[in-house]
Amino acid sequence: MTETMRAVEITKPGAPDVLQLTTRPIPEPGHGQVVIKVAYAGVNRPDALQRAGAYAPPLDASDLPGLEASGEIVALGAGVSEWSVGDKVCALLPGGGYAEYVATPAAHCLPVPDGMGLKEAACLPETFFTVWSNVFTRGGLKAGEIFLVHGGSSGIGTTAIQLAHAFGARVFATAGSDDKCAACLDLGAERAINYRDEDFVEILRAAGGANLILDMVGGDYIPCNIKALADDGRLVQIAFLQGPKVELNFAQMMTRRLTLTGSTLRPQSVAAKSAIAQDLREAVWPLLSSGKVAPVMDSEFPLAEAAAAHARMESSGHIGKIVLKVA
Ligand SMILES: NC(=O)c1ccc[n+]([C@@H]2O[C@H](COP(=O)([O-])OP(=O)(O)OC[C@H]3O[C@@H](n4cnc5c(N)ncnc54)[C@H](OP(=O)(O)O)[C@@H]3O)[C@@H](O)[C@H]2O)c1
Repeated sequence: MTETMRAVEITKPGAPDVLQLTTRPIPEPGHGQVVIKVAYAGVNRPDALQRAGAYAPPLDASDLPGLEASGEIVALGAGVSEWSVGDKVCALLPGGGYAEYVATPAAHCLPVPDGMGLKEAACLPETFFTVWSNVFTRGGLKAGEIFLVHGGSSGIGTTAIQLAHAFGARVFATAGSDDKCAACLDLGAERAINYRDEDFVEILRAAGGANLILDMVGGDYIPCNIKALADDGRLVQIAFLQGPKVELNFAQMMTRRLTLTGSTLRPQSVAAKSAIAQDLREAVWPLLSSGKVAPVMDSEFPLAEAAAAHARMESSGHIGKIVLKVA
């Protein structure tokens, strides 16, 4: 290995052009970690929030952006026995994915699913860990239940639609254009709602109410979500694209026995994320290896053009995942 690597850093909080190529030392694997030579790095909305100064990385994480990557393991830290140098993996990262090398806990790596390329594999970890832990573990989605996901064409949304459909739920999705709605239907949604033309509350109430809603919008959507829930329904909040503050009458939570919850992945413990990885390997990786579920790919940019990748994401013109080619 050479001692330094190319990476993209956030030079200061701001617009996409604050992302600049730089040179950094190649990370060393800590106890229980591996170092991956990165082939591709997935781009996620939290990277854009971090770049804008709205989502600080945990204190012990790399300041470089990038929460997921694929590539080849090139170094093993003490105590790592489950992987070997040369293994091809995709991995959830504490940060640092926009770089030629990255260190991450060995237990946050997963094998590249059979028949899948490294480009597609790089786009799995962040949304699959998030959707699995919020929709199935926290939200307890069951076969036959009505599931509503907002932002259905997002990286998170395209994953949530496919997994909920694969596990037998009835999927409703909202999105901001007819093209995006068509993509949601292709992925297994029984109803896609263009929120610019239609009222998702009316549509869900007419269907009997949502048993589970996965929401990233927040703001005015919060009281609407509560109206759209069936009795005993659950609302899982994973982001607040329209803000976290709203005036809310909690009486319905009590009278209709609703559950309001949420989580964010990044600050969780290594052990908690390892448990999610284990669940995914058992329950979801066979679906990826069989091709029943696959990441929806929007576009690829070279590492040096990370700023253009962020601009594409923030335009919200994309459907599915944006990826950086690193090697
Ligand atoms: N809690 C967690 O652990 C966790 C983990 C990963 C991601 N997230 C969050 O999940 C969300 C999706 O992430 P992603 O990487 O999949 O992002 P993404 O692909 O960029 O999707 C976000 C989508 O949200 C919609 N949107 C954007 N701005 C909006 C606004 N102001 N109001 C309403 N809708 C808006 C857009 O679709 P339309 O055109 O259809 O509006 C956009 O495509 C992000 O908010 C991210 O921060 C949370």
